[in-house]
Amino acid sequence: MSNETTSSVAAAGAKILAITSGKGGVGKTFVAANLAAALVRRGKKVLLLDADLGLANLDIIFNLRPTVTLHDVLTGRATLDEAVLMAPCGIALLPAASGLVEYSRLTGEVQDELRAVIADLGRRYDYVLLDTGAGISDLVLFTASLAQDVLVVVTPEPTSIADAYGTVKILAMLQKRQDFRIVINQVKNTTEGGRIARQLQTVANRFLTTQLGMELKLQHMGDIPHDPAVPDAVRKRKLLLEVLPGAPAARAVTALAAALEAAS
Ligand SMILES: Nc1ncnc2c1ncn2[C@@H]1O[C@H](COP(=O)(O)OP(=O)(O)O)[C@@H](O)[C@H]1O
Ligand SMILES: [Mg+2]
Repeated sequence: MSNETTSSVAAAGAKILAITSGKGGVGKTFVAANLAAALVRRGKKVLLLDADLGLANLDIIFNLRPTVTLHDVLTGRATLDEAVLMAPCGIALLPAASGLVEYSRLTGEVQDELRAVIADLGRRYDYVLLDTGAGISDLVLFTASLAQDVLVVVTPEPTSIADAYGTVKILAMLQKRQDFRIVINQVKNTTEGGRIARQLQTVANRFLTTQLGMELKLQHMGDIPHDPAVPDAVRKRKLLLEVLPGAPAARAVTALAAALEAAS
């Protein structure tokens, strides 16, 4: 299922990147939104999709009040063109709705619709960024299966590292995914990120290589410092890259965009 979708989307030349983490509150939405802005600045046509279908956040980050959402597209009440908004920084945004219990379970119908929507977007944009919800629900796993690349956001907290490892393990087991991109968010110094990325790779080598019969590659794409400018920007409902592009966390996301492009 996922292979077929991934290859058909890849053939269209788009880059579908899922941003996930296992644990919630680690900075997926921050990374996804600001990475989208950084890629636009690099001249790319970028669509950001709120894949947290039951608990959407991107509309808040951008201070938008969408009247049409991905939910309307998935249920056939609106077209993609009606739902895609132009958000600040030149980002095309496909917002989701919040408080919808129907997405706590993933039906075959929603899967088919979502697959079709993402394939369609993949033909229209250079990058489609999928900001997933927390956890390893069917929806999160399915969303990741539609992406060519998965960017795992990890913080230095042991719980975040454990959940990132758990997510990598499940995606490798269920979807035979071997390559992962890792970004360490909220680091306190320059050595912390490298240490955590190495630790994840070592544990994967030790426990998963034999169990799964394949080697996993966890590519460390960069670190983002803990930066009080990040929650400040969220409170202002502005993108950090827009209000303070020189802030340490903004510069780190700009570097992450360059690293992701170079790796692809
Ligand atoms: N590098 C950072 N420095 C400081 N605060 C951060 C950083 N990254 C994220 N945050 C804060 O952490 C919280 C959770 O971020 P969010 O992007 O919503 O996480 P997720 O999408 O993984 O749930 C937000 O309040 C955000 O401002
Ligand atoms: Mg989020």
